[in-house]
Amino acid sequence: MGNLDGRVCLVTGAGGGIGRSISLKLASQGANLVLTDINEEQLNDTVQQCCELGVSASGYRIDLTDSTALEYVVEQTKSQFQKIDVLANVAGIMETRSFLEIKADEWNRMFAINVTTTFQLIQLVAKEMIEQGNGGSIINLSSTAGRLHRPMAAHYAASKAAVISLTRSAAVALAPSNIRVNALCPGIIDTPMIQQVRESRSELLDISQDDIQKHWERIIPMGRLASPDEVADLAAFLASDAARYITGEAIGINGGTDAS
Ligand SMILES: NC(=O)c1ccc[n+]([C@@H]2O[C@H](COP(=O)([O-])OP(=O)(O)OC[C@H]3O[C@@H](n4cnc5c(N)ncnc54)[C@H](O)[C@@H]3O)[C@@H](O)[C@H]2O)c1
Repeated sequence: MGNLDGRVCLVTGAGGGIGRSISLKLASQGANLVLTDINEEQLNDTVQQCCELGVSASGYRIDLTDSTALEYVVEQTKSQFQKIDVLANVAGIMETRSFLEIKADEWNRMFAINVTTTFQLIQLVAKEMIEQGNGGSIINLSSTAGRLHRPMAAHYAASKAAVISLTRSAAVALAPSNIRVNALCPGIIDTPMIQQVRESRSELLDISQDDIQKHWERIIPMGRLASPDEVADLAAFLASDAARYITGEAIGINGGTDAS
């Protein structure tokens, strides 16, 4: 069927824009999937679409900030498939806030969902992968925001910078077990999250959503936002053996936005 025939992949944020595209891409290449999201309806849609591609896909509605739920999903994956080959940490949140307005609890929530759960899942899954002895691939969603300034989302940018740092440390720690850990740094990808950013910026800055869209298209050298499917292609490559010597990287996919 494809490059990932029979591989077992655990994907978080599978109900969202990028998570759904990654799940479908992995399924189209023959991977069996364990999918999670807090949004049950969206999650079920993804599970159904993946099953229609002829692979096995199970969905777990969990809040990632619940550590017991994380352990449960990893255990379920093992008992259903006896192994885990790929972990894609895709779930995340973004919030538009003026720098001086960010509250400590908003900062902490951003880090809890974007960084701490990623760390916890890497640890849980890597322990399984080490026991299995076949290596593995872990893919974390960072962002261009993790490499540049974001004065209207400093907590988001800092959390995504932390994901890059975490990726590098985990990659070196796990390299002897042939577990590769890489981060994706997408630019602006057309998903529900970006629609929400467009709306809140429009409100905060009193500019139309259309003008925000045009501004984004102007600052992206390639002149357009990306589709989540374009990010999924990169994730599927990193999940595959074609990327067998790539680890510890934070790979931009941004139409040239942060090229310098
Ligand atoms: N869209 C972009 O332009 C863009 C750019 C760079 C990075 N990213 C990153 O890519 C990832 C996916 O983004 P997206 O655009 O698909 O967003 P999205 O909002 O469409 O999807 C995110 C998913 O994460 C889930 N989620 C959020 N909090 C959760 C929790 N506590 N427990 C379980 N699930 C939870 C949501 O329900 C949602 O389905 C995020 O980490 C985001 O930061 C997105």
